[in-house]
Parts: sequence; C-alpha cells; structure tokens
Amino acid sequence: MANLATDRWTRRDLLGLQGLADDEILAFLDTAEAFFPLATGREPAPQTLQDRTVLNLILEDSTRTRTSFTLAAERMGARVVQFHAAGSSMARKGETLIDTARNIEAMGLDAIVIRHKERGAPHRLADAVACPVVNAGDDAHEHPTQALLDLLALRHHFGRLDGLTVAICGDVRHSRVARSNLYGLTALGSRVVFVGPEPFLEGLDDVAAEAETATDFDAVLPACDAVMMLRVQFERHEGVAFDLDAYRRGYQLTADRLARARPGAPVLHPGPVNRGTELADEVTDGPQSTILHQVTCGVAVRMAALTLCTAAADRQRSADDSADDT
Ligand code: CP
Repeated sequence: MANLATDRWTRRDLLGLQGLADDEILAFLDTAEAFFPLATGREPAPQTLQDRTVLNLILEDSTRTRTSFTLAAERMGARVVQFHAAGSSMARKGETLIDTARNIEAMGLDAIVIRHKERGAPHRLADAVACPVVNAGDDAHEHPTQALLDLLALRHHFGRLDGLTVAICGDVRHSRVARSNLYGLTALGSRVVFVGPEPFLEGLDDVAAEAETATDFDAVLPACDAVMMLRVQFERHEGVAFDLDAYRRGYQLTADRLARARPGAPVLHPGPVNRGTELADEVTDGPQSTILHQVTCGVAVRMAALTLCTAAADRQRSADDSADDT
C-alpha cells in the first residue's frame, strides 16, 4: 500500500473545505488514493483504527454517507455505533445535540461523524467534545467528504485538478455539495460555474467572491471539462417558485445537451439521483457517468478522513501529555 500522508494533515477535525490550504486537500486525496484499491473490501485494509470506536451521528436521511463511513471504519478495525434520533432521548425528552454527544463520548469514543440539519452544528459539536469530528453534511453549508470524493474521481479522470472548468448545475441554493466543491476546486486552481434558474442561484452571498453564476446551461457547456449535476432538493422547497417542466427543458442533462460539453466530459452527481429530473436515464447510466465511481471513491475518502483526523488527534494528545510532564 502507498504511503499515507498523515504528517501533512494536522487538524483534529474535518469540518469543511473552506479555508483549507491546497496541500491539506491534496493530503486527503493522496491518502484516499492509497486506500482506493481497498475501497471495495476485496482485499484487507490496514487496521489503522483497531479497537477504536466511531459514532455515526447521522441525523438526516442518508444512504451513501452513512454506509460508506461505516464500511470505511469497520474495514480498518473500528467499532461503529449507529445513532438514530428516533427512539433516543433527543426525540421527545429534549436532550440537546451537545449533551447527547458528550454522554456517548463519556462511554469512550475516538471519532464522531455528524450530519445535521443546522448550519454550523458540526462546528459547535467540535467545540464541545475532545475527539475528532467529521462533518457529513450541515444544512446547505458544507459536505467536505463528498467534495473530496468528487475531487478524487475528477483526478482519476484527468490526472490533475488544476485548469479545469466545472459546471455545477441545479439546485445550488440548497446544496452543501456545491459549496464544498467550489472551495476545493478553486483552491486547487480550477474554475467553477454555478448554473441554474434564478431561484436556485439565490442565497449565495457567502460565496459571491469565488462563484461565477449563469442561467443558460447550453451556453456554458461548451467550455466545460466536467459537469456536476445536483439533486433538486424538493424537500427544502417551501416558498421556492419551481416549474418542473421548465426546469427539465432548461437544465436536465440529456445526451444531446451533454454533447455540447468538451468531448468525453465526465458527469458527476452526488446522489441520490432524481431520475428524469436533473438527469436523463441515458446519461445517468451512460458511458460518461462517473456516479458509481464517485461512490467507490467515497469509501476511500472516508477511510482517509478517519485515519488522518484520529492520527492528528493522537499527535496533539501526545504533545499535550509531553507538555504536562515538563
Ligand atoms: N451524497 C450523499 O450525501 O448521499 P446520502 O445523502 O445518501 O448520504
């Protein structure tokens, strides 16, 4: 197995890609690359998390993120506790997120993976616990491991991550994936264009400095090396004007529309796909789709996240212990 870049990552937590240096992002990608041959579990992984305990505090629906963090941790020797809000003392007794996490941490935890409906919840949690916290998605803010797996899939395709133009098309307004990819891709020297109808491009004040926006998908596509389609997040649409037929006409990625992009441009989607809404089936299942490759990359990235953050936490603890001894 190739070397892990544990010495290039010094943060205890992975809360977002905003503000990370390019070498920190590359440390993640290089470590994930080392794990990638083991991502399907057909060969044994090094037991870098042996006897560790990881809490999956996934408080919104999830298939890919929950499953891949679980497989990543278990394949490296960890125990994974799956927390479900339903049936817990959060549900009807009013126990807070922080009290819940601190009580479970008191039973012995080495990392917490959190998905939460509130922006900044992972950051508040990280301030309250001693173990590493990995953000698995907070509201429409960040989803750093999703962006890292997207970057890994793009690097597999292009062999580099600089000088690319990537359209991120769809429900940008409600997308944490869009923001994390914007931070990651621009830090590494690529250009991102957010594309969608006006209502989906609102609320981007926090990223106005980095983000280009466009409403005409067909006009943007000829410059695109890669196209990332986003899920239309119908469940977050209260108060948003949305005409599904007009959306399909202007933004659904069909084979004809994809032919306007650079030849062979890979098509990414974080999943779950609304089949027939943002993507035509011929593209979802077509030769330029990287969707399932992204999912495999997700296991490798989550192996890297748990390994790098626990290694950094171990080093910090050792340094603190040494300081106490002197
Ligand atoms: N891409 C993603 O986060 O998928 P899940 O919501 O299924 O975890």
